[in-house]
Amino acid sequence: MKYRDILITGGAGFVGSNLALKLKQDFPDSDITVLDNLKRRGSELSLKRLKAAGIDFVHGDIRNREDLVFEKVDLLLECSAEPSVLAGIGSSPDYLMNTNLVGTLNCLEVARQHGAASLFLSTSRVYPISYINDLEFEEAETRFNILDGQKTPGASSKGIAESFPLDRARSLYGTTKLASEMVVAEYVDTYGLKAIVDRCGVITGPWQMGKIDQGVFVLWVAKHYFKQSLSYIGYGGAGKQVRDFIHIDDLYRAIKLQLENFDDYNGQTYNVGGGLENSVSLQELTTLCEQITGNKIDIASVKEDRPADLRFFITDSTKFLEQSGLSWQKDAQQTVQDIYEWIRDNEADLKPILA
Ligand SMILES: NC(=O)c1ccc[n+]([C@@H]2O[C@H](COP(=O)([O-])OP(=O)(O)OC[C@H]3O[C@@H](n4cnc5c(N)ncnc54)[C@H](O)[C@@H]3O)[C@@H](O)[C@H]2O)c1
Repeated sequence: MKYRDILITGGAGFVGSNLALKLKQDFPDSDITVLDNLKRRGSELSLKRLKAAGIDFVHGDIRNREDLVFEKVDLLLECSAEPSVLAGIGSSPDYLMNTNLVGTLNCLEVARQHGAASLFLSTSRVYPISYINDLEFEEAETRFNILDGQKTPGASSKGIAESFPLDRARSLYGTTKLASEMVVAEYVDTYGLKAIVDRCGVITGPWQMGKIDQGVFVLWVAKHYFKQSLSYIGYGGAGKQVRDFIHIDDLYRAIKLQLENFDDYNGQTYNVGGGLENSVSLQELTTLCEQITGNKIDIASVKEDRPADLRFFITDSTKFLEQSGLSWQKDAQQTVQDIYEWIRDNEADLKPILA
């Protein structure tokens, strides 16, 4: 990879810290700096691991331009965010807007000033909620399935592709990300910025500080591990909602390939997610968690839907997978196993955060 001076904003978070550590391992000559305001509970646990790997940490906030002064940057990975789809619902949207939108623009300015290539972590939440929930589906024994033959373009049993319509509401969170994507496109067009946008569905794996509104896979494994309770919320309360997931190791493989071949991916937007093969319903996730942790816990049923929730989301990443030739290595069983082993091996540190 030709990039040496790498800045990772949000680099103490789940995605940012994993990318930082893996890049440092694969490219030991690189100078990696991570910036994070440590807003996410648990991000502070990354600091020891980052330091041990020789990665510099800057305690800063992307909302403040004065925090974003660096000597040399030739690659920016923008991984900072308020990543909860519930952010701003029933409360002020200020933090969300100022971080996910204004802060991202501040990061883009750093990239422009340094002539750095950029990779922006976007989300499948750019796709409008009502279009997704209006899709034709069938209710199977343990999950909802998206049917083929949909009227809405870009939707099939393989999931949602980049050609899905974008003209309805998508949550405040999704809107901050879509708006940022649009500004990225303008920076590419106006300033010749090199940039790739990856729209990810659920990303999960070790070092994700799962909580009720974000990081559901880790939350589910942790609640089983610590023998606490959970709820199936909405869509009949039977836990048939489906999400695809991508293991952080597979996301890293995808991003590494893009960074090594930047020009092939430059200026484009890709769905990058686990897809139908790597999808589970909450019910199915419960079964896996019971098998792997050996614990069975109480799961309540709440019939009312939660705001901004989806009956299903499956990422159709055909565009990226065909171009890259990659396939995913970590399935649901392996992913839950990895999360379980990580919690087991770091129980004392993680219990106050995950339990
Ligand atoms: N985890 C997922 O399932 C998922 C899915 C799709 C997209 N994404 C995107 O991936 C990126 C990384 O998400 P994540 O899962 O690592 O979340 P995370 O919460 O673990 O990490 C985000 C980090 O950003 C930091 N941060 C928040 N506000 C900041 C600010 N104003 N200034 C500096 N740092 C700030 C937090 O402290 C945290 O360490 C985000 O852009 C998110 O929207 C995540």
